[in-house]
Amino acid sequence: MKKRYKLIGKFLRESFRQSKIKSIICCLIMFVLTLLSVFLPIILQRIIDVAIGGKNASALFVYGGVYMAVMIAIAILNMLQQYNLSYLKTKMTIRYKYLLLKKLSTFSGAYYSEQKSGEVLNIIDNDTDMVENYGIDLVFDFVRNVITSLFALSMLVHIQSTILCIIIGIQIITIVVQSKFSRVLANKTAEVREQSGKVYNIIEQYISNILEIVILKARRYFLIHYLKNEGEFARKGIRLDVLFSASSQSATFLSSLTTILVYIIGGMEIINGSIQFGELIAFQQYTAMFIGPCMGLLKINESIQRVWVSLDRIYGFLESSSTIVQNNKGLKIPDHVTQINMKNVNFSYSNNKILKNINYKFRPGKVYALVGATGCGKSTIINLLYRLWDVESGEITINDKNIKEYNLYSLRKNIAIVSQNTFLFDDTIENNLTLNNNRIKKEDYIETCKRIGIDEFISKLPDGYQTQVGENGVKLSGGQRQRIAIARMILQSKDILIFDEATSALDNITQEYILDNLRQYYENRIVIMIAHRLSTIRKADEIVVLNQGKIVEIGNHESLMQKKQYYYQLVEERSV
Ligand SMILES: Nc1ncnc2c1ncn2[C@@H]1O[C@H](COP(=O)(O)OP(=O)(O)OP(=O)(O)O)[C@@H](O)[C@H]1O
Ligand SMILES: [Mg+2]
Repeated sequence: MKKRYKLIGKFLRESFRQSKIKSIICCLIMFVLTLLSVFLPIILQRIIDVAIGGKNASALFVYGGVYMAVMIAIAILNMLQQYNLSYLKTKMTIRYKYLLLKKLSTFSGAYYSEQKSGEVLNIIDNDTDMVENYGIDLVFDFVRNVITSLFALSMLVHIQSTILCIIIGIQIITIVVQSKFSRVLANKTAEVREQSGKVYNIIEQYISNILEIVILKARRYFLIHYLKNEGEFARKGIRLDVLFSASSQSATFLSSLTTILVYIIGGMEIINGSIQFGELIAFQQYTAMFIGPCMGLLKINESIQRVWVSLDRIYGFLESSSTIVQNNKGLKIPDHVTQINMKNVNFSYSNNKILKNINYKFRPGKVYALVGATGCGKSTIINLLYRLWDVESGEITINDKNIKEYNLYSLRKNIAIVSQNTFLFDDTIENNLTLNNNRIKKEDYIETCKRIGIDEFISKLPDGYQTQVGENGVKLSGGQRQRIAIARMILQSKDILIFDEATSALDNITQEYILDNLRQYYENRIVIMIAHRLSTIRKADEIVVLNQGKIVEIGNHESLMQKKQYYYQLVEERSV
């Protein structure tokens, strides 16, 4: 319970921060609106009993005029309120989405391996929506309902207290019934939400891997899986709708019962002459003003359950801490990296030992190649250097300082990687090359593209560098995508360059052309290449051979071939 209010408190503070002035205006308008609406039945009672009953035409016009003026004021204030609330809600949603997207990039590799993207999408999309639709209204409705019901209650006591006792009796029954419903509804809503996350996940997987699925002919598998989960979602959803309907119907019945009792008993009081007709009308209206807000308060309880589930998921995500400890006050990576040293590095992915006692130094000016059978841990070394995971024991240092002492942002900023999975944004070639960095000039990227032999191809496209590459670069070939990714890495101009299978989709001639052209660029930089292809590896100054997580040989191609050991075996088996 305490946690729930804490979350709502956080939400309110965040909303208030979006626009303090608008928040204050909203509160003021709400108070004025509430006061104006509770005065309407009093004016009506005067019209009936004083003006009409007393046959006083001028009083009739005055009260009628006041009634209309109040109605106009209510309409104008409601519109103003709508504008302010819309503004606050939209700003708040954008704020949450922005924070969630920003947070997503700060987790560890372990998180990305485990997390299902559908679940995250669900938080970013559905939960922020839920908070937008109900969050702020909820607070305003709560305060308005409390004030209105208290005022109406005091007026009801003043006019007729016997009927009031009956009304309160029925209200108590209503509250008991509704609270039972709301507990069940909260549980069922959470179940439906969870199922919707599963469906989202399946659709997301299907869409983002559609090409592979067509090639694998796995459509049937996906569609059956989808229909099964969607069916379950529909069943749970229908059950929830029926429950919602039962809950609101029971409330409606009890409220109609109240109305008819007010007329019967109130009618008797008029016949007996103890109250006037106008008072009964005012009483009836105040009854509505009392019951409506009381029901509203119960409904708010229902909505709080829903919003709370969403806020819990949003803040759960925003406040979850990454296992990679960020040292925001950490050192900046020095201007010139002179050494990366791996000392006794051991590492496992959940108990699966991958790297065993790795000791190695990388220095600038040399091209290193990491070689070994598939799955031996080459990419893992890069993951550790980039701190997607932290080493289990041992340490990695840059210029003799443990990489954990550096600010994570600065560390990653200084490492440029072309990874095994080339990723391009659904944007122009130019934006993919520069990543919207204004400091990279047109001449720079054209020069780089020339160096890796891709300028000619791009220039021939009808839109040149402004060509849209499609989602993840589908409009380009695998080799073209890789070359754009290499050019992008070079343009980032970092001290540490890593090619993880970055030339696997290129033919030998193109690859050699690129590697030769980049030679001069490599000077003073640490270049690490991971490749299976002999033609890439043999040009490296130093080859580090890995086998089952250990470094087994080090040397250049010729010396390793002469040794006739594991590397020789790999070459002979054409494993490299
Ligand atoms: N996120 C992960 N969670 C658990 N195990 C993983 C994860 N990533 C990789 N592995 C496992 O760790 C081992 C080493 O993987 P790694 O990606 O470093 O291999 P690699 O040498 O780069 O292979 P390849 O040449 O095929 O790219 C593999 O057996 C792989 O199954
Ligand atoms: Mg790999």
